[in-house]
Amino acid sequence: MSLPRSKIIVRNTRPEDFSGIAELSREVYAESPPWSEALLSSHLRVFPEGQFVAIEVDGGRVVGMAASLILLWDDYDMNMDWLSFTHSGTFTNHDSAHGRTLYGAEVMVNPTMQRRGIGKKIYQERRSLVQRLGLLRIRAGARLRGYHRFAHRMTAEDYVMRVVQGKIADPTLSFQVREGFAVIGVVADYLHQDSESRGFAAVIEWLNPNVATPDDFRARNPKFLRPEASSLSC
Ligand SMILES: CC(C)(COP(=O)(O)OP(=O)(O)OC[C@H]1O[C@@H](n2cnc3c(N)ncnc32)[C@H](O)[C@@H]1OP(=O)(O)O)[C@@H](O)C(=O)NCCC(=O)NCCS
Repeated sequence: MSLPRSKIIVRNTRPEDFSGIAELSREVYAESPPWSEALLSSHLRVFPEGQFVAIEVDGGRVVGMAASLILLWDDYDMNMDWLSFTHSGTFTNHDSAHGRTLYGAEVMVNPTMQRRGIGKKIYQERRSLVQRLGLLRIRAGARLRGYHRFAHRMTAEDYVMRVVQGKIADPTLSFQVREGFAVIGVVADYLHQDSESRGFAAVIEWLNPNVATPDDFRARNPKFLRPEASSLSC
């Protein structure tokens, strides 16, 4: 008989979660240094409402996390890398006075707990935050984790189009497409050391339906839209 699963809640990150987040980082990205206390403290200093953890109610283990900041998008170029969008992971470029874009800098779920709706719960909190703050949208770079399996036979753009059409499943982008994100571009050199994606990422967007205008939806590159998603709703 299998044990009943512990209930999961998503709430804002607190300093006492830092060691659990570091542990989670090691589980998800064994080859990279985990999120450090210095960077996580910086996130809480500049934008505490934008930082989330998913916690097992029984025992309090951190099983997921997401980190975000607000950007004035005009200050950036879509082709910039993750380090530029996040000021080297510090989020000190957070600009809630002028920005209308929540930038998703990180999201991860413990590998043994994936595909159980935890990522979805975290994204629901992100969308609620955007609605509460009256922001226009969420944008992020979705690294193309499955691209290395196809890189010898198609470009990153072709790969993204196939993922969006549901012909290929990508471990990250398929999740984000399921969560209502549209692809607005494909960029190289987003995460330089990432061998799985070969550095490529899809720039993804979710528009806040309470704020976005029809023009915001029309401005999206139709090349990457699913046929049923090219209407004005999201
Ligand atoms: C991406 C990630 C956060 C998703 O979290 P998760 O808890 O597994 O996702 P959920 O179970 O909430 O899935 C939500 C939806 O996405 C779909 N989905 C999730 N992973 C998927 C995959 N690999 N392929 C296809 N669809 C997927 C689910 O089927 C579900 O769809 P449904 O609503 O129709 O049931 C998680 O896989 C992860 O931590 N990956 C490693 C870190 C990473 O790559 N982060 C992104 C950096 S850009």
